[in-house]
Amino acid sequence: MKRIFLIGYMGSGKTTLGKILSGRLRLEFIDLDNYIENRYHKTIRSIFEEKGEEGFRVIEKNMLHEVGEFDNVLIATGGGTPCFFDNMEYMNRQGAAVYLKTLPEILHRRLKVAKSKRPLLKDKDDEELMTFICENLSRRSPMYEKAGFVFDADKLDTYEELEQSADLLCALLSPYLSED
Ligand code: S3P
Repeated sequence: MKRIFLIGYMGSGKTTLGKILSGRLRLEFIDLDNYIENRYHKTIRSIFEEKGEEGFRVIEKNMLHEVGEFDNVLIATGGGTPCFFDNMEYMNRQGAAVYLKTLPEILHRRLKVAKSKRPLLKDKDDEELMTFICENLSRRSPMYEKAGFVFDADKLDTYEELEQSADLLCALLSPYLSED
């Protein structure tokens, strides 16, 4: 039985790389945000609006505990998932957690064109976005770094880079994958 959790900041490529990797490893792909949206019939944005971040974090934890019981899955978590409750310890217990580590400048480039669905970012201009990413990432990094595997996810822009990153990530995970 295999269970992989991809963790990392918003825009680190958890979903993009997760889809490719799950195909290669023949694991079912689950995106935690999508799972929440389907279960609650609401967008992440409207959950934030109705219940606030605190309410969202409780739902996120409960849904993590649901998908964290599934077998042979690769789960792309939300950027904040490892940073609340005992979620990081839970993931390390339940399977292999992989931190997709990305430079703030690269996150900024990716996120400035993809912030509308992300409640924490949507109202920020370019400069505010950069400041927020730097501060928030440095607060979150100690939690991310608790993952059993850390992977450099700066190069995910082209098809070739994605394929190459998936190869490297499979190699990094091979000790876990070859366990009984
Ligand atoms: C969040 C990240 C989002 C989503 C929510 C909060 C965060 O997921 O869970 O908007 O706190 O970093 P992505 O990392 O998939 O954008």
